[in-house]
Amino acid sequence: MKRVFSGVKPTGHLTLGNYLGAMRRWSTVDQHEADALFCVVDLHALTVDHDPGRVQRLSRQAATLLLAAGLDPELCTVFVQSHVDEHARLSYLLECVATDGEMRRMIQYKEKAAAERARGGSVRLSLLTYPVLMAADILAYGTDEVPVGDDQSQHVELTRDLAVRFNQRYGRTFVVPRTTHPGVAARVMNLLDPTSKMGKSDDVGPGIVYLLDEPDVVRKKVMRAVTDSGRDVAYDREGRPGVSNLLEILAACEGGDPEELAGAYDSYGSLKKDTADAVVELLRPVQERHKELCADSAYVEGVLRAGAEKAREMARPRVDSAYRAIGLLPAG
Ligand code: TYM
Repeated sequence: MKRVFSGVKPTGHLTLGNYLGAMRRWSTVDQHEADALFCVVDLHALTVDHDPGRVQRLSRQAATLLLAAGLDPELCTVFVQSHVDEHARLSYLLECVATDGEMRRMIQYKEKAAAERARGGSVRLSLLTYPVLMAADILAYGTDEVPVGDDQSQHVELTRDLAVRFNQRYGRTFVVPRTTHPGVAARVMNLLDPTSKMGKSDDVGPGIVYLLDEPDVVRKKVMRAVTDSGRDVAYDREGRPGVSNLLEILAACEGGDPEELAGAYDSYGSLKKDTADAVVELLRPVQERHKELCADSAYVEGVLRAGAEKAREMARPRVDSAYRAIGLLPAG
């Protein structure tokens, strides 16, 4: 059975982009077809300025939402990254294989570092080495497939390079993983700035639909989405990013094709209304289940404890063999 690994970072409330780009597929496809692990990658949240209490709250919320979105601990492993030491252990070894030039070429590093400097802040070293920790997350488990949104492709590409390099230099240790993306909505855009990704930690909050937004808030946000200057409803991601984003969201919610859907609408108003309704319906069961799970925090904690134990057992042998392969003396 193939091994699947993916994760979500607790740097903000989870969004419709996270759900359509990644989480939905984890619960509908991956956990049924693979030996799958899903992780709240809290160590990654420390790479930027953060409030410790907020990271804890967001980590708990993210884990609860993964379960609310349909991940079933009977079918897959759900856990928190910092509960499994193997991630940090392996990350250091991979830092000894990666180069600083490679890290500085990462688009997300360049964007986030520039934003941090523009705010007058300093860039943490861990922001630069972030992709190495992500590679460790993936490689520790012998992962075959990494289901993610579009924005993570470069990081998974780097993970592949590091795996191949380690294997060639120190002997075959890691599986070389591949990426999978959803057919539509692999990059959901901000409703108010449809040339930028809908990111959970962005400043343009009213353009972001959060998974826990109340139905009337979702409706308001979608109805206020920026559309384009043309009047007809056409699917063209480059030329008509606003309308195309709505068409993709609607298609992803209803299982259709954005180009075909475009032909069914003659006004932006009706497209927005249907999209808002579809998103509300999509989120309803997730929100209901989330509410139930919040009333049963002991259950969520139990799932995370058992998940971490399982994950540790899966990761340790491979990480131990990487330690030996690279030249470290076994502890005996
Ligand atoms: P994160 O937390 O930013 O996002 C979690 C998942 O959601 C996808 N995603 C989107 N997809 C479509 N449209 C959007 N607007 C959108 N925003 C986010 C992301 O592509 C991702 O699949 N570095 C990762 C977390 C990570 C990870 C890993 C992922 C750490 N280690 C190992 C996979 C494997 C991140 O920041 O995701």
